[in-house]
Amino acid sequence: MKKRVIIDTDPGLDDALAILFALGSDKFDVLGITTIAGNIGLDRTTANAGGLLAFMGRGDIPVIRGTDIPLTRELQDLVAIVHGMDGLKGVTLPDATSAPLNGAPDWIARTLAEAAPGSIDILALGPLTNIAHVVTEHPEVVDRIGEIIVMGGAVHAPGNSGPSSEFNFASDPEAASVVIGSPVKVTIIPLDVTRQVRADLNYVAAMPDTPHGRLARELLGVYLHNGRESRPLHDPCVMLAAVDASIFSIENMKLDIDLGDDPDAGRLLVDRRGMPVDVALGVDTERALALFRTGFV
Ligand code: BDR
Ligand code: CA
Repeated sequence: MKKRVIIDTDPGLDDALAILFALGSDKFDVLGITTIAGNIGLDRTTANAGGLLAFMGRGDIPVIRGTDIPLTRELQDLVAIVHGMDGLKGVTLPDATSAPLNGAPDWIARTLAEAAPGSIDILALGPLTNIAHVVTEHPEVVDRIGEIIVMGGAVHAPGNSGPSSEFNFASDPEAASVVIGSPVKVTIIPLDVTRQVRADLNYVAAMPDTPHGRLARELLGVYLHNGRESRPLHDPCVMLAAVDASIFSIENMKLDIDLGDDPDAGRLLVDRRGMPVDVALGVDTERALALFRTGFV
């Protein structure tokens, strides 16, 4: 049985790799791709999502534009150094085959309303603003969600936004707090594990010689910028957890989000009065890398 999923994303190189995996694997029925500002602005993340679908011949899957306004804060500086001014560091994609729809949270809510309880998973690869809007504005449909798997946060590992904060959660701390405090089952895939699932030059060279395998090779090639030996496959880890959670060691922890104003806003706080959440703290790196490759054959 394929998993019915909505991908919420800000492509972004590692988002693009995750999306290609999901479309190339036979494990997912992708109902729609909702976009969010993050790695780059919303127009670009939306265009990139449409381009990936066009490349894969999946123009039948809708792209729904989300928001670029965090729940209560300003949109933070974009990380063009990693993902380039186009979000894909110059890797070109075909144009989307149709215009995106508008209003990601409402589209998600309508899609959930038509679904059976627990039958749709949300794979969240960017800041959590769209999903927080669904949880707060459409509480009557959240029981249709089976699970939300989120790339975000750092538990014991250092941050990549502030000293201990991770980019997706730091981009909208209040949204992250709403989502992890929601009644839905949430699994967090933090930097602690995504930094262990790394592509190096040998891995890139061994990607299958298929059209989307070659595109993945190109994306990984520019991701390995400035002579870096390897790069973490952050967002693909969400897809891998959805296909085979046994690759990860997952613990239930009580967590809060730092909602302060310092540079570490958005960091995860381990707190016995916090919200119970499943968190991946370990990963079988070899199995993860092998599974990722299977999406490109
Ligand atoms: C996360 O931030 C983004 O830059 C990546 O796409 C990933 O979702 C890693 O912290
Ligand atoms: Ca992302």
